[in-house]
Amino acid sequence: MIEPLIRPTRRRLLRGLAGAGLVTAAAPFVSRGRAAQARSAGDPFSLGVASGAPRADGFVLWTRLAPEPLSSDPRTPGGMSGGDVTVGYEIAADSAMHDIVRRGEAVAEQAFAYSVHADIRGLQPGRPYWYRFTGADAASRIGRAATLPAPGAAVDRLRFGFASCANYEHGYFSAYRHLTDENPEFVLFLGDYIYEYIEQRRPTVRRHSDGIEAATLPTYRNRYAQYRLDPDLQRLHAEVPALVTWDDHEVQNDYAGKWSETFDDPEIFLLRRAAAYRAFYEHMPVRPILSRPDGPRMRVYDRFTFGDLVEISMLDGRQYRSREACYAPPNKGGTHLETNATCPERLDAGRSMLGFAQEAWLHNGLARSQAQWNLIAQDVLMAQYRLKFNEQEGFSTDSWDGYPANRARLLQYIHERKVRNAVVAGGDTHSYFANDLRLDFSNEASPVVATEFVGTSISSAGPPYEPIARALPDNPHVHFFESRRRGYVAVDLERANMQVRMRVVSDATDPKADISTLRTFAVEGGRPGVVAA
Ligand SMILES: [Fe+2]
Repeated sequence: MIEPLIRPTRRRLLRGLAGAGLVTAAAPFVSRGRAAQARSAGDPFSLGVASGAPRADGFVLWTRLAPEPLSSDPRTPGGMSGGDVTVGYEIAADSAMHDIVRRGEAVAEQAFAYSVHADIRGLQPGRPYWYRFTGADAASRIGRAATLPAPGAAVDRLRFGFASCANYEHGYFSAYRHLTDENPEFVLFLGDYIYEYIEQRRPTVRRHSDGIEAATLPTYRNRYAQYRLDPDLQRLHAEVPALVTWDDHEVQNDYAGKWSETFDDPEIFLLRRAAAYRAFYEHMPVRPILSRPDGPRMRVYDRFTFGDLVEISMLDGRQYRSREACYAPPNKGGTHLETNATCPERLDAGRSMLGFAQEAWLHNGLARSQAQWNLIAQDVLMAQYRLKFNEQEGFSTDSWDGYPANRARLLQYIHERKVRNAVVAGGDTHSYFANDLRLDFSNEASPVVATEFVGTSISSAGPPYEPIARALPDNPHVHFFESRRRGYVAVDLERANMQVRMRVVSDATDPKADISTLRTFAVEGGRPGVVAA
């Protein structure tokens, strides 16, 4: 269908909206109810656009109206005030937006910082679409979205990327730029999309704009807005659909459920978590019907199936966690190292990283999956890693090593149910890992049941290389470790083979950094475990 490009007029937007009002001449919006206004003539689409949460017949299109994206007045997020606002959207079959297949309206909700989550249905499966938003005599940049292939459809190949840990203060987002240039079908964001804290100890190349740790709704909002103003991240979202989960820094370092790193009263900490989750929702292309936050609760775990090739289970590794093991001073409330002798609580089968409801959801999905590959996308390192660090030794309490019973239940389930080609993707460690996931990590004769790849950080500084590398002989299931490089992971998936390229930027402190491949690994269909490509 070819239709002439018609930008919705103000009159069209007004039609049927009783009581709508326009306020400023400079940047009028159509209001639902109370008059809405932008306080300045800035670009209302300054934060760009994003698509995500794809299904076979649609996806979510996101934007947030923010003519003053870093507004310091908490009463006027993004420079907006007043009630809900209606914006227009157009969806086209071509990148030049000539062949418009859908026009509609969506609400920028005042309660959610004037963000838009347009849940589009009724499109054709397995194809790209292009879109833009319109309103206030302005149009957004054009974004690209895509529907999933029809359920069970034959899919021979798929390229995607995964990324985590983008500390704005530690570097530029060249890794995001190069990931966009690879034209992946989608990108998995595996957590630490923002950093809540202000760097005090390490060198920085640019600063979080407000200079204070995010802990309230206005400060989390401004953190997301600042990241989305980065041109490399903004272009990635415009050109590549996103599947998202979170890790800890979207709220606070190393938090677990309602327990903070700083031993806050859990009821007080939940207020902070509610603000953080709400700001996450306001800035991500997630399904409102699934993910609209309810106080400190927000559902992010979800499942995406790409025809018969791969099913992706996106997990939430933070919200439903049991309290970190041996959570009491003099330990930090977050990561510390423990052995079986120093902290038997770590081994308690009643503890869970995912929470028992999410564990059951994951197991059921894996059992029912008809896909050739089953990707478990989540925030932290799953393989065991025995460390010796500054005269301490043991296992981290913050990664899956802090929840070994949960890990054993999952790997045992994959083994018993013969889940086909299970691969785990993770982040958090600011390091590359390529790991065999064994039923029993302490026994080299134990079967390998799945394969794990952990991506390094986009920009966040890595942990010291030497002490971790020195422990490699104690962790023979780890084929590769590297903490000194920044980058992202590019995956080329075919029915018989998964190729994993560990991509690294030349220098995260250089906004024009080059890209190269550090190492390439593979997984062969039917044979769990890392192989050199
Ligand atoms: Fe991180």
